[in-house]
Amino acid sequence: MSDSTDQKRPSDPGPVTKAVVPAAGLGTRFLPATKATPKEMLPIVDKPAIQYVVEEAVAADLQDVLMITGRSKRSIEDHFDRAYELEEALEAKGDEERLRSVRESSDLAQVHYVRQGEPRGLGHAVLCAEAHVGDNPFAVLLGDDLIESADLLRRMIEVREKHGGNVVALMEVEPEQVSLYGCAGIEPTDEDDVVAVTDLVEKPSPEQAPSRWAIIGRYVCDPAVFPILRETPPGRGGEIQLTDALRELVRRKPEDGGPVYGVLFRGRRYDTGNKADYIRTVVDFACRRPDLAEELLPWLRDFVDRREAGRP
Ligand code: G1P
Repeated sequence: MSDSTDQKRPSDPGPVTKAVVPAAGLGTRFLPATKATPKEMLPIVDKPAIQYVVEEAVAADLQDVLMITGRSKRSIEDHFDRAYELEEALEAKGDEERLRSVRESSDLAQVHYVRQGEPRGLGHAVLCAEAHVGDNPFAVLLGDDLIESADLLRRMIEVREKHGGNVVALMEVEPEQVSLYGCAGIEPTDEDDVVAVTDLVEKPSPEQAPSRWAIIGRYVCDPAVFPILRETPPGRGGEIQLTDALRELVRRKPEDGGPVYGVLFRGRRYDTGNKADYIRTVVDFACRRPDLAEELLPWLRDFVDRREAGRP
């Protein structure tokens, strides 16, 4: 691993083995629940949201996971660590199933932690990964986006390993939604699901948006992004934006850490970043669980009928 200097780094053609998961946000949209509990630990049915993200990284062969944490995030570390007392108690009771579920999260991956200090934006969070990641390409997974399978991330890694540069996951959204996302200008390539990114704008107005293709929270970055992030001034919302740093790489050649590709995602993505979407995600996941669906679906139907009929 070389130390961090501003000199140009050659693009590393090596494999992607590390995942970076920013988890230092204040979770203000979920207060008071997130006063003492990180939003990443809010359960989707019975598993904290962040565990799904780590599972996705592992399913894409990224066993080395670096979490960028901040204050009040100790429970994330505890969750991915052994819980001996709890395990002993479950063992004594012979509760194998729960024992397995408790051990699952600590056996899942090699999870490392670094603290962000000040929350200065996603770009700054990613910059905090530099010492751990070194000169290697790496994936970034945002915890607010849950993606059902690891196929997207696997495909993004494949694109990076073939072409070099950086890869963002893109999803087509309604024009009035572009202002919620980083948005990409795109051009087709020889591959149906891969585009060349020609521009990137963080949370544009519908008029300023280069397209309706929005970045969803999966990235594969070249380490050339680090020196750029160091120089990136605060952008949208006064925060250092990863989108702004990637924009600088759009016109670079692979030997200089560029360019940027997009993988077009047409599968299911769950947003857990705001209350209504979070609740939708919980209900959806619960309704697809064999142990819950049978009880829950008839209740949901009845609940809606009663609401519509104005019955209590
Ligand atoms: C972040 C990124 C944005 C991206 C989004 C995906 O925004 O800055 O470019 O489109 O994640 O969820 P946030 O939702 O954290 O404000």
